[in-house]
Amino acid sequence: MHRIAVIGGDGTGPEVVREGLKVLEAVAKLDNFRYELRHVDLGGEQYKRTGVVLPDGVLDELRRYDVIYLGAIGHPDVAPGILEKGLLLRIRFELDQYINLRPVRLYPGVDTPIKDKGPKEIDFVVVRENTEDLYAGTGGFLKKNTPDEVAIQTSINTRKGVERCVRWAFDYCLKRHAQSPWSGLAPDDLAAGKRGKVTLVAKTNVLTYASDLWQRTYDDVARDYPTIKTDYNHVDACCMWMVKNPEWFDVIVTTNMFGDIITDLAAMVQGGLGVAAGGNINPQGVSMFEPMGGSAPKYTGLGVINPIAAIAAMMLMLEKLGEEKAARRVERAIMNVTGTKLKSMAAGKMGYSTGEVGDLVVQSLGA
Ligand code: IPM
Ligand code: MN
Repeated sequence: MHRIAVIGGDGTGPEVVREGLKVLEAVAKLDNFRYELRHVDLGGEQYKRTGVVLPDGVLDELRRYDVIYLGAIGHPDVAPGILEKGLLLRIRFELDQYINLRPVRLYPGVDTPIKDKGPKEIDFVVVRENTEDLYAGTGGFLKKNTPDEVAIQTSINTRKGVERCVRWAFDYCLKRHAQSPWSGLAPDDLAAGKRGKVTLVAKTNVLTYASDLWQRTYDDVARDYPTIKTDYNHVDACCMWMVKNPEWFDVIVTTNMFGDIITDLAAMVQGGLGVAAGGNINPQGVSMFEPMGGSAPKYTGLGVINPIAAIAAMMLMLEKLGEEKAARRVERAIMNVTGTKLKSMAAGKMGYSTGEVGDLVVQSLGA
């Protein structure tokens, strides 16, 4: 019995979560597993009502679930930073979700802005460290609001934090290629050494302390994985190659801040926020899965938002729950719907409503 906490959250969050849960219900019947849902009321509206972003009791309750399924956080009436830090980042930190996994796969029928590249070329994952770096929140002001003001924000990188992330990325690379249906790669491609590669993305030419720790840790860990190719990109060059030669990438491992930036670029490469999903993973604990798009206030309540990203987040959640067969089934259904039904991935241009897209995915689960 899987125990799932659901945070619909703000804006279009509840609408897309509803479609993900619709798919979950159908796939649980097909693949014979049971689950229990608990809806948790968090987000901008809840904060406006109560003045508390995340009550301690609620956080403790979340610790007791197997996974968390999140819609979106962000409210036009709440100042930037309050919900992000108080809810999203707090859950990531307190539940020690030290991996941010972002698959970047171009599904059939989805347009990429990159000329002459298709599903064969766009299929990689970014493994972003999710608890340290500039996100650790260490720093402060001196002489705030004076002409002599100083602001300091420190990038924290611990050997332990870096190593567990890098090791997870190498393990994930092994797993990804053990299941070639997931990567879509023929075994020949693997044998030819095209894939099975972990690229470290850092900035060793400037960040001679932080990136140096990452590089040394990466080199040490890589020795334990002799079948995986090693690779390095400076973060700025990575942005360039991701657009010019996305087929070069297999698994990227990087810091929290660089990962935040390159995964937005990657989301566009894979066809936009309508399809991009991610997981905040604690391999030993409670993980949280979410579509990348925000709360999209201007589309809220209109039934026009694309739920594919939320359904893809559900697929990642099923993987974490060990429901591998169900996850692959959901992914095949997504590919069928993007490939043969949807006119566009953009909100309001899909040719179907949010609920209809969810129904189409459900109807495709048998395939
Ligand atoms: C993301 C988001 C968050 C981040 C924000 C909303 C705090 O951009 O998940 O990438 O910066 O990590
Ligand atoms: Mn981001």
